[in-house]
Amino acid sequence: MTDPLVIFTPSGKRGRVPAGTSVLAAARKLGVDLDSVCGGRGICSKCQVSPGFGEFSKHGVSVAEDALTGWNEVEARYDRVRGLKEGRRLGCQACIVKDVVIDVPPESQVHKQVIRKSADTRAIEMDPATRLYLVEVEEPDMHAPTGDLERLKVSLEKSWEIKGLQIDPDLLPQLQPALRKGNWQVTCAVHDAGHGPRLLSLWPGFHEGPLHGLAIDLGSTTIAAHLCDLESGAVLASSGVMNPQIRFGEDLMSRVSYAMMNPGGAAEMTAAVRAALADLARACAAEASVEPASIFEVTLVCNPVMHHLALGIDPVELGQAPFALAMSDALDLPAATLLPGAIHPQARAFVLPCIAGHVGADAAAVALSEAPHRSDDLALVVDVGTNAEILLGDKRRVLACSSPTGPAFEGAQISSGQRAAPGAIERIEIDPETREPRFKVIGCELWNTEEGFDLATATTGVTGICGSGIIEAVAEMRMAGLLDRSGLIGSAEATGSPRITPQGRTYEYLIHDGTAEGGPRITVTQGDIRAIQLAKSALYAGARLLMDELGVDTVDRIVLAGAFGAHISPKHAMVLGMIPDAPLGKVASAGNAAGTGARIALLNRAARAEVQQIVREITKVETAIEPRFQEHFVAANGIPHASDPFPELGR
Ligand code: FES
Repeated sequence: MTDPLVIFTPSGKRGRVPAGTSVLAAARKLGVDLDSVCGGRGICSKCQVSPGFGEFSKHGVSVAEDALTGWNEVEARYDRVRGLKEGRRLGCQACIVKDVVIDVPPESQVHKQVIRKSADTRAIEMDPATRLYLVEVEEPDMHAPTGDLERLKVSLEKSWEIKGLQIDPDLLPQLQPALRKGNWQVTCAVHDAGHGPRLLSLWPGFHEGPLHGLAIDLGSTTIAAHLCDLESGAVLASSGVMNPQIRFGEDLMSRVSYAMMNPGGAAEMTAAVRAALADLARACAAEASVEPASIFEVTLVCNPVMHHLALGIDPVELGQAPFALAMSDALDLPAATLLPGAIHPQARAFVLPCIAGHVGADAAAVALSEAPHRSDDLALVVDVGTNAEILLGDKRRVLACSSPTGPAFEGAQISSGQRAAPGAIERIEIDPETREPRFKVIGCELWNTEEGFDLATATTGVTGICGSGIIEAVAEMRMAGLLDRSGLIGSAEATGSPRITPQGRTYEYLIHDGTAEGGPRITVTQGDIRAIQLAKSALYAGARLLMDELGVDTVDRIVLAGAFGAHISPKHAMVLGMIPDAPLGKVASAGNAAGTGARIALLNRAARAEVQQIVREITKVETAIEPRFQEHFVAANGIPHASDPFPELGR
């Protein structure tokens, strides 16, 4: 008699297996992705399947009625104690007797796909470095006196093909009590990121988790983290804090200077940032109502200076040519080094590789997330922050550089500037006829000209102008004829706007006068325009330098990344000449792509190898020593540019 045919969906994998084969065994034989933590003991329920078409017993058929396809004792007990959903079976217990189609639901797939928010980007395939394994260990035998650890290793190898397990001596005292308490069954959390398996924790008997991971984007101004479930990939909490190193210097170079000038300064900054990382981990755990000790994995992305300071390396070499990194490769290390006392003591951290002395692991994470190396069309990816990381390329070649934009895009060095927070003006429009502004502030859905605005902003007031607000303000001033191409604000007479008043030998434009309510007077001064011109020229010059290097005059699409990049209006960015000319429909925002890259590396081991490969293949371009950067920088001071045409703006 022919063996039954089994077809698994959604994979479509099929084959014949002898009657009586368990679904789990059939899945393994046919290479189907079906999860299991308990190794088929009917304990973990990770192997649940739904019979589709074919002979598969109905839920509730007794053992006696249907010996092969009905529940056996194990499955029946599981249903009694924990309940099986209607139509579900435990794959390790259900047996195949006739031709059948079996559906493996997403939650039973080890390598399930996590859908990312942007439809343009690929889903993340779940394959975290840390997983749980239930094993049964042989009891000790006086006549074969091997240690409990050695027998645990034998069981892990036999049941799960885990060979050469490494174990931290700190874990050893837990081994014997766990084995005895679990009646020789233990659940092991094993980390394997390609450098050999390592035991991170163990529990008596069956432990179903959860296991959590933390993806951290350590920026020079802010630190953001996502707490993820390592099984489902779900983001359970996201939190951010200011980088406490700001008190040692606003930007990267002032922090490098602080390290140079102050003995022990680098160590001071390392301690400050590690304490902040630990606080952030606790905050995320509290927000998600999970135990900090359930965090077993951390990934970290950051620029080279933050990278060195987080790792306890003096960044002084990064402050001068040739900008030598102490190390550029990815690093796998005990996470407790970076987040002391805040997560599981055996947790591991993966620090993404740096691309060059000025182009860090954050740019590598953006490359992983936005994948220009897989793109058919030429993509310019700009991660806008205090430093702009710029990638340009397609599947043939990718170039990278970093450009010192300074903190103006984040509202710093702007007379009415502030960080993006409730009360900050984030959107501005200026009527080209009347030259009157209207604006929106963070935390309020209404424009200031709409009824109810005052009431809605009564608690915060209008407090200042943030990065996206100042970009829109300058671009709108240019479009309304308040600014000339060189960035000079015209007088009230020349522009016909009574909102323009002299400020020394230059002029300023009044956006909002809140002094009557005790608030600030919010203006755009000539100094603000200059600060934005410098920042946007640096960004544009970096992009142009890469375009020169690649021998192109245009790009097919532009991706604005970074928490701030997500809020920039593409139209205003182009009017300002921050980015090269491109059809507006081809300019998209990717949100915090560096954070997404950290999350991809957290949830997928192959992505860790991929990012290292990408970094090896990226061509680095150093803006600091490239004379053409200066030329591009000067020309880019014009709004939108002194000489480059912006034909798409006219369309
Ligand atoms: Fe654990 Fe089936 S494999 S219940």
